[in-house]
Amino acid sequence: MRKNIVAGNWKMNKTLQEGIELAKSVKDALAGKKVNCEVIVGTPFIHLASVVEEVKGSIIGVAAENAADKASGAYTGEVSAAMVASTGAKYVILGHSERRAYYGETSEILKNKVLLALENKLTPIFCIGEVLEERESGKHFDVVKKQIEESLFNLSAEDFGKIVLAYEPVWAIGTGKTATAAQAQEMHAFIRKTLAEKYGKEIADNTSILYGGSCNASNAKELFSNPDVDGGLIGGASLEAAKFMPIIEAFN
Ligand code: 13P
Repeated sequence: MRKNIVAGNWKMNKTLQEGIELAKSVKDALAGKKVNCEVIVGTPFIHLASVVEEVKGSIIGVAAENAADKASGAYTGEVSAAMVASTGAKYVILGHSERRAYYGETSEILKNKVLLALENKLTPIFCIGEVLEERESGKHFDVVKKQIEESLFNLSAEDFGKIVLAYEPVWAIGTGKTATAAQAQEMHAFIRKTLAEKYGKEIADNTSILYGGSCNASNAKELFSNPDVDGGLIGGASLEAAKFMPIIEAFN
C-alpha cells in the first residue's frame, strides 16, 4: 500500500549552519517518537551532504529541491542527479511551480530530469498544480492531467511506480490560502483516476500523492484525513521544527 509522507521544502532559505541546526532539531524532536509517516527534508544543494550526515540513524530522508536535465558536462552552475545521489540524498523535488514559473522549466525539460533522477536511483517528488486563473476558468483538471502526461506518461509502469506526486495549487503556495479539504480530495481522486487509466488500479493505488500549499499545523489533520491525500509537501511551516512536527504528528 502507498506510503504517507510529510516532506519539507526549505526552498532558498537557511545558511549551511542554520540548515544543519534545523535538521538536528527535527531529528531531536523525532527521537523516541513513533510516527506514522515517512519524514523528508528537502534542502538546497549545498546543504545536502551535511544534512544527510546530521540525520544519519534517524528516520529522516533527504531530498534535493532540483537537479539538472543533463547528465554531466559543460553546464556551469548546474547540479546533476548523480551528484545529488552521491551525497546520500534519496529524493529529488522536480517540477515545483517556482521552477516552472521563474526558471522556465517546461514539461520536456522535466521529462529529462525525471529520467535522470530514476537512472540515479533517486525518488522524484514530482509537483503539479494549476494557477488561480486556470482554476477560476475551470481548467484545473486539464492542466494537471497535461502536466502528468507530458512529463511522466513516457515511463514504464515499473518506473512510474517509483514516483511520488505532489499536488500544489499555485494559488495556495505561500499565500496562507489553503485548498479546502474537499478541493484537495477532489483533485487527488482525479489524479489517481488518471493514473489508473494509464497504468492500472494497482499502480494508481500505490502512488503517494501529497498536498502542498499553505499546509500547516492547524489544517494538516483535516487535509490528510482525505482518502486520496497521502501527506504533504511543506514550505514555510518546514522551516522550524516546532511548526513541522505537528504536521508529521497529524498522522498519529
Ligand atoms: P508553503 O507551504 O510555504 O505554502 O509552500 C508550499 C510549497 O511550495 C512546498 O513545495
